[in-house]
Order: sequence, then C-alpha cells, then structure tokens
Amino acid sequence: MGWTKLLDRDLSGKRVLTRVDLNVPVEDGRVTDATRIERIAATVQAITDAGGKAILLAHFGRPKGQRVEAMSLRQVVPALQEVLGQSVAFAPDCIGPEAEAAVAAMKDGEVLLLENTRFHPGEEKNDPELAAEMAKLGDVYCNDAFSAAHRAHASTEGLARLLPSCAGLLMAEELEALEKALGNPERPTVAIVGGAKVSTKLDLLSNLIEKVDTLVIGGGMANTFLAAAGFDVGKSLCEHDLLDTAREIAAKAAKGGCTILLPRDVVVAREFKAHAETETVTAEACPADAMILDAGPDSVAHVEMALEGAKTLVWNGPLGAFEIPPFDTATNAAALRAAELTREGKLISVAGGGDTVAALNTSGAAKDFTYVSTAGGAFLEWMEGKTLPGVKALEEAA
Ligand code: 3PG
Ligand code: MG
Repeated sequence: MGWTKLLDRDLSGKRVLTRVDLNVPVEDGRVTDATRIERIAATVQAITDAGGKAILLAHFGRPKGQRVEAMSLRQVVPALQEVLGQSVAFAPDCIGPEAEAAVAAMKDGEVLLLENTRFHPGEEKNDPELAAEMAKLGDVYCNDAFSAAHRAHASTEGLARLLPSCAGLLMAEELEALEKALGNPERPTVAIVGGAKVSTKLDLLSNLIEKVDTLVIGGGMANTFLAAAGFDVGKSLCEHDLLDTAREIAAKAAKGGCTILLPRDVVVAREFKAHAETETVTAEACPADAMILDAGPDSVAHVEMALEGAKTLVWNGPLGAFEIPPFDTATNAAALRAAELTREGKLISVAGGGDTVAALNTSGAAKDFTYVSTAGGAFLEWMEGKTLPGVKALEEAA
C-alpha cells in the first residue's frame, strides 16, 4: 500500500488540513450516533499531540452546492468536543476570509472545524479552484475519511494533489483491515451478502465469486436466485428481469470453485409488519400468497457450518428484513456465531455498510468482530474491487 502515514509526516507547528467523515445521524440538532466521530479521534489527537493544528474538513448531507442551514456542521461541534475532550473552534465557511482568519488564530495543538464542504458547488465537481482555495489553509493534507473515499471530490481527491499528503490513522486502519479480508486473506474465506436487490449488488457479486470460497446470499436478493433456480417465490420481493443474470452468476461461481449458499428454508408471512404471523417452509415451498422475509433455521445452520470451516469472513447486508422483528432472527443468529468464532480466535471477521453495522450493533455482535468499517458506499465499492479515488490520490501523491 503506497501511501504516506500520518506519523511519518512532520506535524509540529503545521496546519494539518484533515478530511474526516462527520456525516453522522442527527436528530433535532443532536448527534444520535457518534461512532464516526469516535473513530477519527485518534487522528485528531495524534495531530494535536505532535504539536500540529488540526483543521477539519468534512461534508454533511447532500446540500448540492447550496448553503443549507439544516446541514451546517456547527451542530456537530458539541459532540466533537465531547469525544475529543477539548474545545473545537468553528468557521462558517471552508474557504475564504472567515476560514483564513480562523486558521490564523489557531495555536499549535488546537482544533478547528470548517463548514460543510458541500455548500460549494465545486466540491462535488472536484473543482481545482476550490481545492486550491482549501489548500491555502494547510501545510499538510491528511485524509482520514475512508467512508468518503469513493467520491472524487475537491476535499477527498483534489487536495491530495496540492499538498504533501498522508493517510490518517482511521484511513490506514480501514485499508489494512480490508486488505486482510479480501486482498490477501487467510483461507477459506466466506462472504455474506444480503440486502434487497441483486441489481444494486451485481458488481459486488461478480467480484466476490472470483475472490471467496463460499458466498452466502441472503435478504431479498436471495429470492431472485431462488426464482432463477426455478422456485416459486410467491409475493416475495424478487427481480424477475434479472433471473438470467442470477443464473450467469451462479454458473460462473460453480466454474470458478466458489460455493454459493442460498436459503434452504425460509420464513414467510402474508404481511410485512412487526410480529406478523409467520411460517417456516422449505425454499421451494413458498406459498403463492406469501412473501419470504427471513432465512430459516436450517439455512442459518448451514451458514454457521460455513463460518466454522472458514478463516475469514466479510459481511455486507442482512440475511432478512432485519428492521422488523422477528425477521432479524437469521441475521442475529449468524452474526452472534461469527462473533463467537472471532472471540475464540478462529475467524477474522470484517463487516461494513450502514445497514449491516446497524444490524450487528442491534444483535450485540459488532463489538466482537475483528473490524467494523465506518463506511457505507465506500465499503461496497471496495468490495466490488473498485479503486477508490480518494485512496488512489493518496497513493499517487506518495
Ligand atoms: C456516507 O455517509 O456514506 C459518506 O459520508 C458519503 O456520503 P455520500 O453518500 O453523501 O457521498
Ligand atoms: Mg451514503
């Protein structure tokens, strides 16, 4: 991995322009999940401990190049101060005189947060002029936002070309964990991929069947594979226009020696609501008026067997409609078994994606996983085998 590490740069007295991901859930102006803030704390502290000035650049929401007060990063300042245990100054713009004055007022070891980069249309366009304006504020550029590295934006990509650059501690940790899981893993490897639709995960499935020994397909997308195998899936969510694609993926996997595990039994219901009346049937026996909402116990037993025989697991997407109980049963059971195997030192387990992390947190499994990524979309693109522009820029800068 060819990027420069944060601690290999001289940070003392330097203005370290640091791209972080503060795109955290907020309700009524309060941060409701500070995970992403907690995960950047080590980088910010490393900069201030080294006597640098930590100048934080981040986006929040999708304001589309306009100043939208509801998407101001000011509302994140209290949570940031609490996590960092130090006061954080705020500048109402990420470029221009106000930002420059706020930076000029900083002492070594202090932290400043700049306003939402996406208030400027040039951010998402990766406008070199905007990047140059931002670059004026720093001596060093540190990218600690792996979860935004799939965006080629001015603050995630353009800046790396303008200043001496490095990967922050979280960025480095994410890249190393992901490399261990898919790049150069201990075999056998299992991937669990769930979620509603095959169509959003085609590239991911195609990449995984070439990389892993066993691919567990769950969630709504499994229904498309079951239908492709000739089973009637009743009223289940299913992409009937993708049956040929599903067959091609299955054939390619078989040819390449990747075992695909589909549900063998399924939990069905007539209505999609909490605690609806359910029935467990074999995968080929979904009643015409019912929908598949979770994998059944026999399916879970087979997933657990695959995990027990594996050394590495990479997980994205739930096995059922986990937001609504009892359709979180299969996801929770498999997650807890993966957590247990990890605790026993038998499995390296890596998970990512917004929904996945929420599901693993609910089941209590997340804390025992080897690594839980902070990334949603970036984790998916990385699982698709794509080069992330933010990472590439760091590598090219090194
Ligand atoms: C995320 O929340 O996944 C990242 O912050 C990226 O946000 P985006 O999908 O709006 O680019
Ligand atoms: Mg997103």
